[in-house]
Amino acid sequence: MNKYDIAVVPGDGTGPEVIAEGIKVLKKAAKTYNFNLDLHEYGFGGDRYLKTGEILTDEEIEELKQKDAIYLGAIGHPEVKPGILEKGILLKLRFELDQYINLRPIILYEGVESPLKDKGAEDIDFVVVRENTEGLYTGSGGFFKKGTADEVAVQESINTRKGVERCLRYAFEYCKKRDKQNRLTLCGKTNVLTYAFDLWERVFYEIAEEYPEITTDYAHVDATTMWMVKDPDYFDVIVTDNMFGDIITDLGAVLQGGMGIAAGGNINPRGVSMFEPIGGSAPKYTGQNKINPLAAIAAGQMMLDELGQGEAAQAIESAIQKTVKELDSLSAGKMGYTTTEVGDLVKDYLV
Ligand code: IPM
Ligand code: MN
Repeated sequence: MNKYDIAVVPGDGTGPEVIAEGIKVLKKAAKTYNFNLDLHEYGFGGDRYLKTGEILTDEEIEELKQKDAIYLGAIGHPEVKPGILEKGILLKLRFELDQYINLRPIILYEGVESPLKDKGAEDIDFVVVRENTEGLYTGSGGFFKKGTADEVAVQESINTRKGVERCLRYAFEYCKKRDKQNRLTLCGKTNVLTYAFDLWERVFYEIAEEYPEITTDYAHVDATTMWMVKDPDYFDVIVTDNMFGDIITDLGAVLQGGMGIAAGGNINPRGVSMFEPIGGSAPKYTGQNKINPLAAIAAGQMMLDELGQGEAAQAIESAIQKTVKELDSLSAGKMGYTTTEVGDLVKDYLV
């Protein structure tokens, strides 16, 4: 029987509550589909940092490198200055484990109301492949004459041939495997970022030669946001850099009904990947049993898919689809059910 060694990081705020529901569902999936999950919990996050000053130790990173996957709740604490935990934990793990893809499916499930008038489940079903280890996120740059009237702040976007190529290759392969519209859209800004996206565009069309079955397409990032709202059904797979991917996937999450359902995978195709609900720690709902756990459950589904348990992943997706039809809304406190009840619904629908 397959056995997977999983690091569980409940993290901050509502992270532990939603992860508990995810684990409930994962355990049922393991039992039903005959595999074993060996779960090991890690306590890093805002609370530990405030107590001990420890963010993420080298030993912990080494341990995580030995796992089959990481299941993460949320990182972010209202009493910790923005940036410390995000950079010290989330981004550090993405970089150290070389999780160079951030995969974010945008799916509107039947029965969920989209903020887009006249758009339904048949219109919103695409995936964003976001580069996850380069661009504006590398921390390259610095201050000059900080705090003076002559201050200069530079923040550079780093785009390596290797980093761009492996991301684009992943996107082409993903689009081919997905086999829906077979259209891959490069989202960039070639009219202004004439170095970074010149590289992206050149490599994009170079690799496209190897994929005659994929229709290639290009959209500037500003236009992409417009089309996502006007004609979301046009999109199949979008590939883009780290910063643009960050921005357009929040828009995507709203199109699919909000942060309550949006999940993502930080993927190293040959290493350890990390799966998370993308909504953050939602501190004001902590401990109230009101937050929607579906995003965390969907992150668990993505994790099983990546681990090779496609059938179990499919079963979780079906159970999520049935569950959303029962909820009044996907928003925290308005679901008509508690966090734990939503977890139970998915668990019970899972067969
Ligand atoms: C995300 C988040 C992170 C990001 C933050 C918390 C650093 O917004 O996963 O999209 O910018 O990547
Ligand atoms: Mn984001």
